[in-house]
Amino acid sequence: MNAFEKRLARHAEAVNEALSAMLERHRGGVPERLWDAMRYSLLAGGKRIRPILMRECFEACGGEGDIMPAMLGVECLHTYSLIHDDLPCMDDDDLRRGQPTCHKRFDEATAVLAGDALQALAYELTLETQAPDALRAELARRLAAAAGARGMVGGQMLDMEAGGLSANGPANDDSGVDVLAIERIHVHKTGALIRYCCEAGALLAGAGADEVEACARYGKAVGLLFQIADDILDATASSETLGKSAGKDAVQHKATYVSLLGLDGARETAREMRDLALEALATLGGPGGGRAGALARLADFILERRA
Ligand code: IPE
Ligand code: IPE
Ligand code: MG
Ligand code: MG
Ligand code: MG
Repeated sequence: MNAFEKRLARHAEAVNEALSAMLERHRGGVPERLWDAMRYSLLAGGKRIRPILMRECFEACGGEGDIMPAMLGVECLHTYSLIHDDLPCMDDDDLRRGQPTCHKRFDEATAVLAGDALQALAYELTLETQAPDALRAELARRLAAAAGARGMVGGQMLDMEAGGLSANGPANDDSGVDVLAIERIHVHKTGALIRYCCEAGALLAGAGADEVEACARYGKAVGLLFQIADDILDATASSETLGKSAGKDAVQHKATYVSLLGLDGARETAREMRDLALEALATLGGPGGGRAGALARLADFILERRA
């Protein structure tokens, strides 16, 4: 492990410990089966990239102190999105974070409800963050916008509508799904929440408008990069490495960068997104080192990740 990987592992460990403690605090009054399902999916593993991005943007903007509740909030929201994404009516997946999906381990109703509860918990936690009232309200508003119909959920709708349309392969594709349409899906279903994390980190650090804007631009590029990397991994990695079923996008005829541009085209677009992310860091002192050094390495990590 190099120094940066150790830094990521330390961040992830801190998130994991805080998640466990938070779940214990929120146990009272929760039906046992619901709490078990929430805990199961939250603690099953996961890279914790979203809270890490929030923390690194916070530090890159000079923030100091504890922003863990907001970090846990976004991880709860993300985990809810995974539970629902895996349901039989959506991607119909059996494996997640190396374990049976929530609806396989429990049942569909429990999985739907665990997702619902994690979404509500995300706002509770965000509003518990130590920050001035107006800032907490602004974070909750931005999280709602990123998660809802104009953000993640809207993107999931577009993803479901586009799936299956290119069943004859890109060469015979008359579905009208082009690069712009796929970018729109990805920017919404995955990008919106990742961008929120970066903006929230900057806002919590008390950053000025220029720095918030730089983090937003970085987050937008990294968000798209993250989903392109996910599409590439779906086509190239094993289920064992990913901890989720590989090769499913092709089987389900999902609209992805790989299905439209092929692996080389997807990789090239991913590199372009990484470059855009690095450019955005200029306002924060540049990617070469200094305050934004960790964010630059994080963009590289997301581009080169193997799981
Ligand atoms: C998977 O997200 C779903 C996407 C938006 C691509 P992650 O790859 O961050 O999943 P975990 O949290 O590490 O399990
Ligand atoms: C999921 O995209 C995006 C979400 C909002 C959960 P995918 O459907 O590609 O994510 P995986 O591959 O199942 O993790
Ligand atoms: Mg999906
Ligand atoms: Mg899926
Ligand atoms: Mg995927």
